Amino acid sequence: MDNYEVCEHDVIVIGAGGAGLRAAIEASKEGVSVGLVCKSLLGKAHTVMAEGGVAAALAYADDRDNWQIHFRDTMRGGKMLNNWRMAQLHAQEAPDRVKELEEWGALFDRLPDGRISQRNFGGHRYPRLAHVGDRTGLEMIRTLQNHGIHQGIQVYMECTIVELLKEGDRIAGAIGYWRETGVFVVFRAKAVVLCTGGIGKAFRVTSNSWEYTGDGQALAYRAGADLIDMEFVQFHPTGMIWPPSVQGILVTEGVRGDGGILQNSKGERFMFNYIPEMFAAETADTEEEAARWLKGDKHARRPPDLLTRDVVARAIRSEVRAGRGSPHGGAFLNVYSQLPAEVIRKRLPSMYHQFKKLGDVDITSQPMEVGPTAHYVMGGIRVNPDTQESTVQGLFAAGEAAAGLHGANRLGGNSLSDLLVFGKRAGEYAAKYAKDRSSGPRIDEGQVREAQQTALAPFEGNGTENPYTLLRDLQTVMEEGAGIVRNKADLEQGLENLKKLVARHRDVKVEGSRHFNPGWHYAVDLRNLMTVSQAVALCALNREESRGGHTREDHPDSVTKWEQVNSVVRLRNGEMQLEHARRPDMPDELKALLTLPEGA
Ligand code: FUM
Repeated sequence: MDNYEVCEHDVIVIGAGGAGLRAAIEASKEGVSVGLVCKSLLGKAHTVMAEGGVAAALAYADDRDNWQIHFRDTMRGGKMLNNWRMAQLHAQEAPDRVKELEEWGALFDRLPDGRISQRNFGGHRYPRLAHVGDRTGLEMIRTLQNHGIHQGIQVYMECTIVELLKEGDRIAGAIGYWRETGVFVVFRAKAVVLCTGGIGKAFRVTSNSWEYTGDGQALAYRAGADLIDMEFVQFHPTGMIWPPSVQGILVTEGVRGDGGILQNSKGERFMFNYIPEMFAAETADTEEEAARWLKGDKHARRPPDLLTRDVVARAIRSEVRAGRGSPHGGAFLNVYSQLPAEVIRKRLPSMYHQFKKLGDVDITSQPMEVGPTAHYVMGGIRVNPDTQESTVQGLFAAGEAAAGLHGANRLGGNSLSDLLVFGKRAGEYAAKYAKDRSSGPRIDEGQVREAQQTALAPFEGNGTENPYTLLRDLQTVMEEGAGIVRNKADLEQGLENLKKLVARHRDVKVEGSRHFNPGWHYAVDLRNLMTVSQAVALCALNREESRGGHTREDHPDSVTKWEQVNSVVRLRNGEMQLEHARRPDMPDELKALLTLPEGA
């Protein structure tokens, strides 16, 4: 067995984006010892890619807003597949979490009367997104980090966790390695919280950076936990598409929230051609307003450029396929004809600099070229809605790694409020769980040895597969088989190809030493990416309908019976098993909120 270091805590939190930081803060507040482990440097997290704002019914920009309408919008945006209890807790608690952040020093933009300013975003009935220009996620991370480091949380940076450890049925900790030295480290802990974010690197064009390889989902799955609704992947409609080196980088929905419009190569505002009647009837002010949208009235209160992300991403794809795309295969996003230059620079400073520096485009006088980019996975670890505990004792999850809140499609801005509300809850309940157990778990040396051998396998043997080639091939398989629009034949082929990739991964070979070896890091990460990719494709093949972030061209409609079920995958007898479980019934008083009259 290889040597390893040991670190001991009551609770370890894996992943230090917004959810991880918020969980660590809360667990620490409960008085237990907390370790926060991150794969990258502290502060570098996908949370910063939620740029346009955090959704909370503060009712500052419009006093008609309240948690009930936020709940309704979230359920409708999620095409009713959401876990109702999570949607309820989220809508009820988000305002307090935002105000708390403000007390901790977050500098939100202000209304003239001094209250927090809120902007429009797709699917939200009222302007609801508290924001800091177009850098909201960054400001949240800064605030949480600043607050967290004064709580006595021990931070472990540049550490990849390769396996969770168990004692019988309950969690006992995790094993990982320091990315710099390759030395193994065992974290012995009574409770583990997974906040590792998403799976974006399964796709070539993504807003996610290198860290997002489905680690939490795959670790939980291998530890015996359930994953749900993995077929639902969100393609944000507006990523940069040119130049190629920056393809996928996010262009915030805040651009459209503040008035930006989408146009095709003929200069047409094509979104007017894509308003699904159901959506218009659900979210426009009144039925009369919905009718104005459908007639193409450009002065209707909320323009269709702000339809939910699934609808806009598919519309851009259709325009390109119909030969009306921009020169590099996307659409034009025009804010310069809608807002004065100084307002653009003030409200969208990051977008201004991003396009100027990376694309040599001045967005105050020129259109941006944009196209869909893999941004978020709605599926993930199945959790108890109140405690965030997974189906494995002592294993908790929050943020993008967990599932339930967003159903089939997430509304923009709901990720930041998600990670605050459920990061807090996960930290609180993980600490309570740890406090209820007087003795720490026992570490099983056999599990440690096995995890080490698996992680080191790419250095052994005569394999010939290169990790970077495997990664590229995986991304191609996922884009072709399980991308924005799917069908049975492509998904079946995708699953076959994934099986072959798993076999090729057994032959992956890396050269050199364990000292900062990026090839080895990817070889390790690929194991997780393959697992989550198989889960996505398997669930997508079996859901024979279209809903939110899952579009089947061979089953284009949403089917009522599918609204009732979550896809559940779990590892049993070495195989990935899929079952369709009935989703929990919603109480009548919440059902009534779904039919609230518009403008309520
Ligand atoms: O477009 C954006 O600013 C992204 C926000 C989000 O994903 O919540």
